[in-house]
Amino acid sequence: MTITVPTPADPSLLSGVAAALIDAARDFVLDPPAAESAVVQLGSPGQIRDAFAAVAPLDLAATVEAQPSDVMADLAQLVIDWSVHTSHPRFFNQNFAGPDPVAVAGDWLASALNTTNATFEAAPVFTLMERAVLRKLADVAGWPAYPAETLAPGLFAPGGSTGTLYALQLARHRHQPDLVRVGAGPDRLVLFVSDTGHYAAMKSAALLGLGMDAVIKVATTPDGVMIPSALETAIAKAKTDGYMPFCVIGTAGTTVTSAFDPLDQLANVCDAHGLWLHVDGAWGGSALFSPAQRHRLAGIERADSFVWNLHKMMGMTQQCSALLVKDPGQLGPCFATGADYIFQPDKLYADEDSGDRHFQCARRVDVLKLWLSWQAYGDQGFADRIDQAVARADHTRARIAASDGAFVEVAGEFTNVVFIWVPPELRPFRLEAMSEAARDQLHGLAPQIKARLQQAGTAMLGYQPVHGLNTFRLLFMNPKVTNADVDATLEALDAAGAAALDHES
Ligand SMILES: Cc1ncc(COP(=O)(O)O)c(C=O)c1O
Repeated sequence: MTITVPTPADPSLLSGVAAALIDAARDFVLDPPAAESAVVQLGSPGQIRDAFAAVAPLDLAATVEAQPSDVMADLAQLVIDWSVHTSHPRFFNQNFAGPDPVAVAGDWLASALNTTNATFEAAPVFTLMERAVLRKLADVAGWPAYPAETLAPGLFAPGGSTGTLYALQLARHRHQPDLVRVGAGPDRLVLFVSDTGHYAAMKSAALLGLGMDAVIKVATTPDGVMIPSALETAIAKAKTDGYMPFCVIGTAGTTVTSAFDPLDQLANVCDAHGLWLHVDGAWGGSALFSPAQRHRLAGIERADSFVWNLHKMMGMTQQCSALLVKDPGQLGPCFATGADYIFQPDKLYADEDSGDRHFQCARRVDVLKLWLSWQAYGDQGFADRIDQAVARADHTRARIAASDGAFVEVAGEFTNVVFIWVPPELRPFRLEAMSEAARDQLHGLAPQIKARLQQAGTAMLGYQPVHGLNTFRLLFMNPKVTNADVDATLEALDAAGAAALDHES
């Protein structure tokens, strides 16, 4: 029997698609889209399917025919046309934006070399690189020096949520060292996170079999910062109620307002009660790169684990997330199974493998883009990136303060500005004096204003309730965003607000 090895329908396929990729990188990453261009061509699911149907259906048919390279290039273009342009200087929708060009190149290179970062034999360079970068990150966090020959002080995880999941497993394992063999013991474990902390805590607790009810939300200040005395009270109550506290999650930069918990004080509480301190620095961890901003994480050197998303503020392509672990000796006992088909102890350089100190088997190479960027920009370039983002947020605050009441800042720290747009008849804005009807109207306007901006493609920004009232959030990380982009976005928001009001009346 002759077996035919499948090949692409046309040998120029790769070059056709690669040409589209290179164009896309130039148009989006090197020279970001012009401010006047649309952030998004908003389409309903039906419109997007229809656009593809004219070239090749998006929903794969029962029989899929191989397409020639010109069709493949058209498909690549359709993907670009209907995607959100997160590198656009008016994209403020989420805690990521504007990929760094060096990171994009690093991601391509890693994909082209296609390996797993689990073993030295499959990834000799990347294994060494991961260890070097994790050591450097630990150093930036002020953790003890980890000599070159010791284990990497942590691992790369596919995101902040997964990093927190792994951290909670480590914490639980320290509490009950036979956990990985016999499963959960009789203790009714609970952990603590601020009531403004990320939902990753809940999801992780559910996955680990602790249950979401095991996550005790600790009260915060009006700015969203955990109150240490409230943590103490919550721990005491949990103990009285028969629960076993095992971990506290401190947040360094909450998703919405970028509030930083007082890590030093949380570490004192953890020391007093023998609890694991995990720090969720998915958003704000990168403040450590800036000498002017790193004070926000004072006490981070006392954490047992620290998750830090470089794919957020540092512009690494998604995903690039480090979980630093203070005692790397805990990783093996927590995650190893000793699979002898891959982690053979008698193979060359067996000790270098990271795979049995990790949960994942196949693992993307997320380190290369970060390592390349660090080489390209240096420590100073990383610091500048953070300082520039903060300067942009400060400019936004100043514009809001000078807006004659059109906007009112309600929360936000560091790189995040959280505010409301105030209809003219409610100016000057006084929350306490507002009728319930006016409050409901204001609350309902935010989604309408966002939708208008989305439909016009002018800007994308998030809205979310803060203290029960929908607010907008501008947050900064993309160095291509200028003060003029901020001003234009506020202007567009003001106009969209007026139009939404007109439409209502
Ligand atoms: C504070 C915080 N923690 C955790 C996460 C989750 O990170 P990821 O999206 O990488 O899972 C986020 C995401 O926005 C976040 O802002």
